[in-house]
Amino acid sequence: MSDLKDFPLHADFETVLVSESAIRRRVKNLGAEIAAAYGGEEITVVAIINGAILFTADLLREIPNPIRLDCVRVSSYRNETRTRGKPRLLHSLALDLGGRHVLLIDDILDTAKTLTFVVDLIKKHRPASIRTCVLLDKRGRREVEFEADFVGFQIPDKFVVGYGLDFAERYRNLPCIGVLKPSLQNPPEWA
Ligand code: IMP
Ligand code: MG
Repeated sequence: MSDLKDFPLHADFETVLVSESAIRRRVKNLGAEIAAAYGGEEITVVAIINGAILFTADLLREIPNPIRLDCVRVSSYRNETRTRGKPRLLHSLALDLGGRHVLLIDDILDTAKTLTFVVDLIKKHRPASIRTCVLLDKRGRREVEFEADFVGFQIPDKFVVGYGLDFAERYRNLPCIGVLKPSLQNPPEWA
């Protein structure tokens, strides 16, 4: 998926999994898919910050529909022990979602605990519809059954950073998505 013109590789990367140009192309197509799915309807987008910030900013510019934007912040269960850790809401919705067409956006679908948690939260507001969109999908890692309606890329079970995704809050600003060198990787609890 990487293009030669996107090299040289960032010094901390072992490999680039999705290049900047591949992201740009796919985001454009995703925007068209989403616009087609909603017809001309207004969409209320809920983005999960911080990870979905870059993806959301680029994607929304590819969707011509009227859009309202809200954000939620969810704590990562990764800092807690695996069995006890549950996503927690740190910053809740500001817009009213009742009767609205809601599109929930996240950077990556992994175990699906986060998206399941936020979808349940949104459903309590009785939206007219709820769909989900993720840039990346690590299907092999599901702990909860979940399929997103719109997926940018299926990726293997590797810890990735860049384009919004972080490792200990670093690398979000990189324009492509890559795998860190093993020497820089700590256990996932650090994420
Ligand atoms: P889930 O709840 O396991 O589906 O995880 C979703 C959240 O975990 C995402 O919003 C990311 O913040 C984080 N996450 C999962 N995999 C990765 C990764 O490979 N790199 C960076 N963050 C990740
Ligand atoms: Mg996240």
